Amino acid sequence: MRYNLKPDQQVLITTDSPSYRNMYESSIISVDKDMLCIAMPYYNGVHVPLNVGFVLKLRINTGDDIVSFTGEILYRNVSRRCFFLRLPDQNDIQLTKASNRCKFITVTSGKGGVGKSCFAVNYAIALSKLGKKVLLFDADLGMANLDVLLKCNTKYNIVDFIDGRKTIDEVISQAPGGIDFIAGGSGIQKLASLNVDQLNRISIGFTFLQSTYDYVIFDTGAGLSKNVTNFIHSSDETIIVTTPEPHAITDAYAIIKVALEQERDITLKLLVNKCATPAEGAEVLNRIINVVKDFLDYSIESVGIIPESRFVPRSVREQSPYVLAYPSSDVSLILNELAEREINDFAEEEENPWRFKGFASKFISLFRNE
Ligand SMILES: Nc1ncnc2c1ncn2[C@@H]1O[C@H](COP(=O)(O)OP(=O)(O)O)[C@@H](O)[C@H]1O
Ligand SMILES: [Mg+2]
Repeated sequence: MRYNLKPDQQVLITTDSPSYRNMYESSIISVDKDMLCIAMPYYNGVHVPLNVGFVLKLRINTGDDIVSFTGEILYRNVSRRCFFLRLPDQNDIQLTKASNRCKFITVTSGKGGVGKSCFAVNYAIALSKLGKKVLLFDADLGMANLDVLLKCNTKYNIVDFIDGRKTIDEVISQAPGGIDFIAGGSGIQKLASLNVDQLNRISIGFTFLQSTYDYVIFDTGAGLSKNVTNFIHSSDETIIVTTPEPHAITDAYAIIKVALEQERDITLKLLVNKCATPAEGAEVLNRIINVVKDFLDYSIESVGIIPESRFVPRSVREQSPYVLAYPSSDVSLILNELAEREINDFAEEEENPWRFKGFASKFISLFRNE
């Protein structure tokens, strides 16, 4: 079979019709030479009656590849609830590698201003430079500012997607360093009160991200809002950023405690930023690791230590991430090392598929349970 297309493979669909602006999830029913029979998608529990003549963008996940093309519905079978379209010529088909193991990482902190966003941006780019497909997602509901750090003028943001004005692929922009980016947009507080329609949309949106990227990195706000803890509890890993300042450490401990009180089956890691010396960083790391072990009976791992560096504020002012603008600076070398270590760990984690929580369904279930 061409491109290994088979029944039951997942299909994500967008349409050219102004009445059907969502991304829909469906599956292949049968493949006969170049003719594909696809189930009418369900949305909010009802069938979406896609019509003959609609031009669809399809994205089929074969497990190994994502097969993307545009096709017109040639006919449909109402009683069998399916429609037919023809696979186009090879030249009109895009083939990309499917990501079977997307790792969702949340970056958060107890206190604001500790360097979460700077870290998230540069970590994402460092991973991308090592060949990974990375999406950076601005999930800071109060102060979304990654577009400024990246100097990336985005036309649409996540709110356009949640409200159904744009599909998930339409709110993704290309950012410097080869990463993709979703802007937060103010008013994203909406995440706190989602209706069924929006939850469905988000569920399919995250399914799309999961099959497209190797890493999805959420840059969240500081503190203990429900929004942040939902990201922590759905992600495969959460990096808690602190600095050596005493109140940053106390607030980091507080967020670790609250996150673990709600659920212990999560992976929390610790990053100490703005360290004057490696010894200071190591001391802070050990102190938190020991307190968390003694009082919360949890082994928190270390991501590492990042020095206080003049290249960071400079690159912020210049709106140019330091791993790109100052690739041989102290911080860039450390970020490259952290990214390399992450990719090695990932290879080991891949051997244990149970490590992956299935972000989309977990995230949706947390909102449904509220
Ligand atoms: N390693 C570092 N060395 C020096 N300054 C840093 C470092 N990391 C971050 N900063 C500075 O701290 C400020 C706040 O960083 P930011 O990433 O926006 O914090 P957060 O997202 O946690 O609120 C930035 O303007 C940046 O210049
Ligand atoms: Mg920030």
